Amino acid sequence: MSRKAIIAGNWKMNKSQAETKELISELIPLVADAKSEVVICVPYTDIAMAVNMCSGSNIKVGAQNISWAESGAFTGEISPVMLSELGAEYVIIGHSERRQYFGETDSTVNAKIKTALANDFIPIVCVGETLAQREKNQTTRVLRKQIKLGFENIEIADYSKIIVAYEPIWAIGTGVTASVEEAETSIKVVRSSLAKLYGRANANKIRLQYGGSMNGGNAKTLMSQKNIDGGLIGGASLKAVDFTKVVKYYD
Ligand code: PGA
Repeated sequence: MSRKAIIAGNWKMNKSQAETKELISELIPLVADAKSEVVICVPYTDIAMAVNMCSGSNIKVGAQNISWAESGAFTGEISPVMLSELGAEYVIIGHSERRQYFGETDSTVNAKIKTALANDFIPIVCVGETLAQREKNQTTRVLRKQIKLGFENIEIADYSKIIVAYEPIWAIGTGVTASVEEAETSIKVVRSSLAKLYGRANANKIRLQYGGSMNGGNAKTLMSQKNIDGGLIGGASLKAVDFTKVVKYYD
């Protein structure tokens, strides 16, 4: 089963317009010959510029969140229709920072995946356990539940489109990476949970990313694991040279 590697940058709430321009100009030539799929998930305010700058390159642009509604009285939200009009093709759903600070739950994640798929986005769905849950040996249970509820009643037409990012919360932005064994073990749990919902053959088509302090130094080892097909990169996506090292993890 060959799944195309996908490295996605999650810029979080970073980069002004001027900084976006600078970073993307540097990045385009550096990753032009990359073997992996390259995505940058930028702040809403940078999407139009990013799409414009990346058109004609191999870099795809995504958003970091999406509303589950297409329009209406939802002050402060951004609809999938608006995002698609701007040219965003991917969307991160249920990032742990959204779950932790902005009240997202497995049920909002579920609604957002449905809306994203209905509007032809490629969703990057995040799951992962907290340190307390890991210490209490609850990782498997937490991941199974997040997948089961997140994907409840979701019919998927094209499994090869779906991306799930396993991000142990204790490894995000901390400089602590899960060991390769820990990452692969948990990612296998994610794949087997997806297999319960969609069957083994379909689950084998779904690309799974690792996220949490992934960088140029550890990307090659993580990517060598059987079930790890990509990375969701925070800190290391903010500098063109650092991100390129992850994108070209195979060098
Ligand atoms: P990090 O963030 O690479 O800075 O740990 C990853 C993420 O939150 O997606």
